[in-house]
Amino acid sequence: MYLPYFKLQSTFLVGFGIGFILAILTFIVHDAFNGTSSTFENSLSNTNDARRNSLLKWLTSDTRNNEEIIMQVWKDQMLGNKSTYGQWLTDKNVRTNNIDMDFYLYGSTREQELESDWLGSNVQLTCVVFVKKVKLAKSIWNTWGKRCNNIYFFGQEKDPEVPIINLELKLVSSWQLLCEAFNYVWRDNKTMDWLVFSKDDTLVVPENLRYMLAPLNHTRDYYLGHAVVLWGQPYNVADAGYVISMAVLGKLANMFGNSEKCITGGKYWKQEDYYLAKHLASMGIFPSDTRDQYLRGTFHGYSLQSLLWGVVKTGSYWTRALYPIQNECCSLMSVTFNVGEPDKMYTLDYLLHHLYIIKKEAVFGTRRAPTAVPDEDVWKIALKEEFNITHLKNISKDAYYEIWHSKYSEPGQLMTKNDQRKGLDKPN
Ligand SMILES: *[C@@H]1O[C@H](CO)[C@@H](O)[C@H](O)[C@H]1NC(C)=O
Ligand SMILES: *[C@@H]1O[C@H](CO)[C@@H](O)[C@H](O)[C@H]1NC(C)=O
Ligand SMILES: *[C@@H]1O[C@H](CO)[C@@H](O)[C@H](O)[C@H]1NC(C)=O
Ligand SMILES: *[C@@H]1O[C@H](CO)[C@@H](O)[C@H](O)[C@H]1NC(C)=O
Ligand SMILES: *[C@@H]1O[C@H](CO)[C@@H](O)[C@H](O)[C@H]1NC(C)=O
Repeated sequence: MYLPYFKLQSTFLVGFGIGFILAILTFIVHDAFNGTSSTFENSLSNTNDARRNSLLKWLTSDTRNNEEIIMQVWKDQMLGNKSTYGQWLTDKNVRTNNIDMDFYLYGSTREQELESDWLGSNVQLTCVVFVKKVKLAKSIWNTWGKRCNNIYFFGQEKDPEVPIINLELKLVSSWQLLCEAFNYVWRDNKTMDWLVFSKDDTLVVPENLRYMLAPLNHTRDYYLGHAVVLWGQPYNVADAGYVISMAVLGKLANMFGNSEKCITGGKYWKQEDYYLAKHLASMGIFPSDTRDQYLRGTFHGYSLQSLLWGVVKTGSYWTRALYPIQNECCSLMSVTFNVGEPDKMYTLDYLLHHLYIIKKEAVFGTRRAPTAVPDEDVWKIALKEEFNITHLKNISKDAYYEIWHSKYSEPGQLMTKNDQRKGLDKPN
């Protein structure tokens, strides 16, 4: 008979399909996080793209994850011997150790404090976001904005959820807006050590920024970002976001304490980042080197996607960089990326802060079933869970097939054949 054969085949296919998808998923997850699978690399070497290949190797390699990232800015002679984050921690009498995320996430008590939380209360970071699109502001408010010690949004729009500050001024330049904004923050007089300015299409990673800033003394002058040189003037480009220390904010507020001074400080639109650098330079403050020890960048005016796979590095962002970016796309301690859509902001936040993969055998998070289910009982459980059928102690292959078929259909062609035969073969 045709049909019983088909039924067998189809039951097998369902089982095979699930198994196959699981295998692929396992493979992909394994590859993305542990990454040494040769099949994955082979398929790419066919593209003959050496850069892509080496990038992929870097992305999927786990080897240097324990290495301390050392920022060039720490080499500042002012710091003396305290030139790494580790030494700074030691000075603070703080000891770190690797914690078991399985225990931390799923265990019953949380005795240890996460390093990022500790940094959050020891390196005070104020975030200033210039808003054009409310939706983006809202996505920041719900994601990385929560990890700043204070956050200010400046813009013209209104939103019931996001406290956007409208300065109610007739602005003559974008410099004036920046100037009024830092005056506002200064007068608000909240505790802060550092100030990061960004546009609403920027994702900031406050944890990584605090790591970079921790060994630096905020009572000294610092001006950090992605610096390029234009008309002989090095400045940190607004697209990548930039940071100033409290000392610098004080000097700016002193220099531009009122609206008249703000207005005369710069007259062209979209040049506020350049004007800022010009005024800072007049006080002897210049952009610092924010690359890591491999000369990889940390402040990025591009999306991660473009940095990894898409950017043609011919623009002035690259060619006029004061501290040229070398090696792979980005430092593992990157601080900013461009993110143009709210959905992406949420997605990246999920990947950064919520998704966790337990690599080792875990005790709490991925516990085995206390007693293994014998193979011959799996179908009974399936029937109970899927169809609430508990009374069937024994069931024929045909009946089993019919039950599943009533819920799940197969590919169209097979289904047509089945439908044609159904009248003939139906039991009873
Ligand atoms: C600084 O480091 C150098 C060599 O690493 C060492 O000789 C010197 O004693 C250190 N100075 C202080 C004050 O720790
Ligand atoms: C900020 O507030 C403190 C008290 O909280 C005060 O002593 C200080 O003068 C204030 N500074 C400014 C600039 O208003
Ligand atoms: C920071 O720098 C100031 C001088 O600007 C100095 O008095 C202070 O001791 C420094 N703080 C630390 C923790 O090094
Ligand atoms: C499952 O079936 C039993 C009777 O066999 C019924 O009492 C129960 O409400 C059903 N549960 C669901 C979730 O349909
Ligand atoms: C289940 O039913 C089949 C016939 O459909 C029969 O051969 C078999 O012995 C039965 N098994 C049990 C455990 O009842």
